[in-house]
Amino acid sequence: MRATDDIMTVGIDQIGVYLPRYVLPLEALAVARGVPVEKIHIGLGARQMAVAPPWEDAVSLAANAAARLFARRQVRPEEIGLLLVATETAVDHAKPASIFLHDLLELPSNCRTFELKHACYAGTAGVMIAADWVRSGAARGRKALVVATDIARYPLQSSAEFTQGAGAVSLVVSERPRLLALDPVSGVFARNVYDFWRPLDRREALVDGKFSVDCYLDALAGAVADYRAANNGCHNGGDGSQPLHAGLAALLYHTPFPKMAYKAHLRLLESGGCRTGAPPANAEESYAAQVDPWLGAAREVGNTYTASLYLCLAWLADQAASRFEGKRIGLFSYGSGCCAEFFTGDIVSGAARVAGRIGLRDLLEARRELSVEEYETLARDGAHGGTPPGEDAGFCHLAAVRDDKRIYKRSGYFA
Ligand code: HMG
Repeated sequence: MRATDDIMTVGIDQIGVYLPRYVLPLEALAVARGVPVEKIHIGLGARQMAVAPPWEDAVSLAANAAARLFARRQVRPEEIGLLLVATETAVDHAKPASIFLHDLLELPSNCRTFELKHACYAGTAGVMIAADWVRSGAARGRKALVVATDIARYPLQSSAEFTQGAGAVSLVVSERPRLLALDPVSGVFARNVYDFWRPLDRREALVDGKFSVDCYLDALAGAVADYRAANNGCHNGGDGSQPLHAGLAALLYHTPFPKMAYKAHLRLLESGGCRTGAPPANAEESYAAQVDPWLGAAREVGNTYTASLYLCLAWLADQAASRFEGKRIGLFSYGSGCCAEFFTGDIVSGAARVAGRIGLRDLLEARRELSVEEYETLARDGAHGGTPPGEDAGFCHLAAVRDDKRIYKRSGYFA
């Protein structure tokens, strides 16, 4: 069933993005680690990674991403009835990141709020819960705010070090969305695997890198198969003879590094045809037209875990919303461990007006380049918190950790 056939159209109404102020060119890191630069630029498809300084954490990143929406009057605090924060960089085992955000954003007290965890999939879990909450009628005309926020950390000198990143994406989910109308039927896949995890006492993730790539691709095939089954094979509204990608103007994938999206697209072409088989002869062309243009932000930010898929959506909206108005896109979300979802939606007519406020290019350009030495110092000091130098005053930041109470200062946001 397409969103337009449904009585109530529900989806993403607004997007806000926030990126940390610092960026590390991966070329410099490759030289420092004695790794061929081509392995990173071509082998992984990555160029830069965002670096979160010690005074920023999942809450401050999320608060900034959401505050941008309120500052630009894209939504009002009293409109929010559900606040969900998706993160795998939690700041407390019991107290959810969402309650800090609820306070910082001055949201109403009759707002349900909690934190979600399932590795990178949690952002999509939040979007789906929010959409169901709106469809159920429990929203009573209000909107949900879903914020995906993360800092991807692996040990220094590890091969995964090149796939770090940080950032947050805030999404307003509502009835009659002005950006992306979600189709109500999606495809899901879940399986217990140890591909990537982070035990409670560790700051950096543990990962079985190559196995994680296989788990991602198998989960994609599983989610696409479920999507096809749920749509009786007729996922493009036709008789089921058309391959899945042919009915979609763009495909967005969870992007831990851009080459992963390339691998994912080839797997989708193999498994997404109505008659499963080898990828079509025009696979490279399809990738170049439907996937690669939407990896621009991921290439310069790195893995933002829960926010990664939505950073691709923000980039597509920021760069080309007017071209996609009235067109359907496909989205694939993967979270290690693992759970995955394939879903579709229509870019709404008039979406370019909303997208014009995202300002992603400005955020990317405003960043300061770090040297490898500065990055290593920030990574080592990261566990101890800290206060920002003058240049960062004005951020909403983690000001201090005092008496085991986290203090967030609302002194503004990076507009
Ligand atoms: P690695 O050992 O650094 O790299 O691990 P590699 O040896 O696999 O090489 C990478 C690619 O570079 C290969 O291309 C090489 O051929 C190529 P491929 O065969 O894959 O197409 N290469 C070169 N290309 C050009 N010139 C050269 C050259 N040398 C080699 N000179 C790995 C890479 C991704 C495994 C590692 O970075 C890692 O462990 N990253 C973290 C895990 C990860 O990102 N997994 C992705 C799937 S799981 C996921 O997405 C979930 C996640 O986001 C977490 C969550 O859900 O919360 C991670």
